[in-house]
Amino acid sequence: MKVEIVRSNGVQTYEVPMLSDTMTVMDILDYIYNNLDHTLAYYRHSSCNQAICGRCLVKMDGTPVLACAKRVEPTAKSVRLSPAPGTVVRDLVVVKQ
Ligand code: FES
Repeated sequence: MKVEIVRSNGVQTYEVPMLSDTMTVMDILDYIYNNLDHTLAYYRHSSCNQAICGRCLVKMDGTPVLACAKRVEPTAKSVRLSPAPGTVVRDLVVVKQ
């Protein structure tokens, strides 16, 4: 799957394999961070991963979603991830206003 991420320095595109039918947006971000690009910034280590804290909010194809809970359609050819509304600290890390 093609994954476009709107980062602080522009849009970057990655090719990510669908590793399961239940892959979440967070799984995609973890895959990119662990295998393709260690510089990607997103809420990862300090978050709940249980759809409780809301810190992993990002936009997927323009719609706000919780990255840890939002599953990606296994047949999707591409997704575009961008920062949630707020002040962007870096890449997908945002501080709410
Ligand atoms: S990590 Fe807490 S809601 Fe997603």
